[in-house]
Amino acid sequence: MAPNPRPGPDDSFPSPTSLVQAETDATLLKHIPDQPLAKLDRNAHVQFLARNFVQGFPSFSLLQVGLDPGNNQRAIDTILTWQHPDGGFGGGPGQSPHLLATYASVCSLSIAGRPGENGGWDQIDREKMYTFFLSLKQQDGSFLVAHHAEVDVRGIYCLLVTATLLDILTPELVEGTASFIASCQTYEGGFASASQPYFSPYTSESLLASPRPPLGEAHGGYTFCSLAAWVMLQPFLDDSLVGTTRPQINTNSLLRWLVHMQGSPTELGGFRGRTNKLVDGCYSWWVGGAFTLLEVLGVSVATPDIDQSHGQGDEQDWNDVDDSFFNREALQEYILYAGQHPAGGLRDKPPKNADAYHTMYCLSGLSSAQHRVVPSPERRGQILSAWQRKDDDLLPGRFRKRTFLDSLSWTEDGTTAKIFGGDVNRVNATHPVFNLTIRYIVITTKRRKQENDV
Ligand code: FPP
Ligand code: ZN
Repeated sequence: MAPNPRPGPDDSFPSPTSLVQAETDATLLKHIPDQPLAKLDRNAHVQFLARNFVQGFPSFSLLQVGLDPGNNQRAIDTILTWQHPDGGFGGGPGQSPHLLATYASVCSLSIAGRPGENGGWDQIDREKMYTFFLSLKQQDGSFLVAHHAEVDVRGIYCLLVTATLLDILTPELVEGTASFIASCQTYEGGFASASQPYFSPYTSESLLASPRPPLGEAHGGYTFCSLAAWVMLQPFLDDSLVGTTRPQINTNSLLRWLVHMQGSPTELGGFRGRTNKLVDGCYSWWVGGAFTLLEVLGVSVATPDIDQSHGQGDEQDWNDVDDSFFNREALQEYILYAGQHPAGGLRDKPPKNADAYHTMYCLSGLSSAQHRVVPSPERRGQILSAWQRKDDDLLPGRFRKRTFLDSLSWTEDGTTAKIFGGDVNRVNATHPVFNLTIRYIVITTKRRKQENDV
């Protein structure tokens, strides 16, 4: 960190946006300690989560702690009361099922649950879940987030994670979904929440493939969901379509947009979610976590198309700590200095209060800044040799195998971990697509193997 970060640019035309930006800069600068002291206050955050544990417990696994058996069972039993008799989970007992609540419930059961009676995992009705998912499918490959509700890429991400964990991801379910995702990329490079349906007045089939302009503004949350969905959809893309009919995303403009979301030294290197808005700790994951996904699509630091001419003159403000796409040290500073609430829990920015959502995503972002999790050919080989083919009526073996391999072949590259403030601040590595600590993915998959003898 530079000793005196320079103030942000000022165009002499004050507006509500520039005033709140200046206020935020001033507040953040006060959070740079006199004596650089970067300590993750693990105990305070665990106590905060314990006070809120029903909402907050996925963050426990990042902090390397687990629930006691009594509370664990309580969590399983509570989550199961949210399962809808027609499939999927709602936000509470008796509520209509929704893709976001379904994702949160199934991920939580993958952490707290176990196989067998009352274990939670085997009580998820996979067939009804599949029927629920299909009932939300739209002609253009997108999904409603709930019956009579809107289309949103968050819902598509949630559906794909859930379908992968439950082994119900089929070509039928995701037909057209990759094209829909591609249509949500905006001129800035990031992704919007949806794209505009276009109906022909002349044909009865009516919903046309183009033009499909993105609906709204590029945003970090939608961008993570779109990119992670794109990664999960790769097995279904490879050999189906060729040439111009194969949906494509522009990874160069996406990379350019993502790197511009990291704040200046005055903003302590936190990430913002969209152009001209304020930095916020939760984008440490939604934006900071997206770089790993780009890497798995083959984009590397050496990608030649990156325009090197922008941003010159800023370099003296940060130490060029490594060859990552973003400044991993700076992001850790933002989270540790500004993200931690002194009373425990993590937050958007000072002087805001901590909450379970920001605790989860600041810690996930801290994890992605500390660790590099990469696809490992060696691990892929091991998993491949453990694979035994067995088709069932839902999922052809070819897709199941590729999804199984893609989900599990990640490994932590121990040589490139960067733990700002030393090893006491280390949090667990997290899966770049599912954001579950790697341990739980393996356990979930073992359960699945037992269940299906896959
Ligand atoms: C803008 O809020 C926020 C959005 C438009 C949605 C963001 C989406 C996510 C964070 C992804 C969630 C993902 C899942 C899986 C549920 P704002 O205007 O208050 O914030 P801003 O100024 O930072 O844009
Ligand atoms: Zn936030």
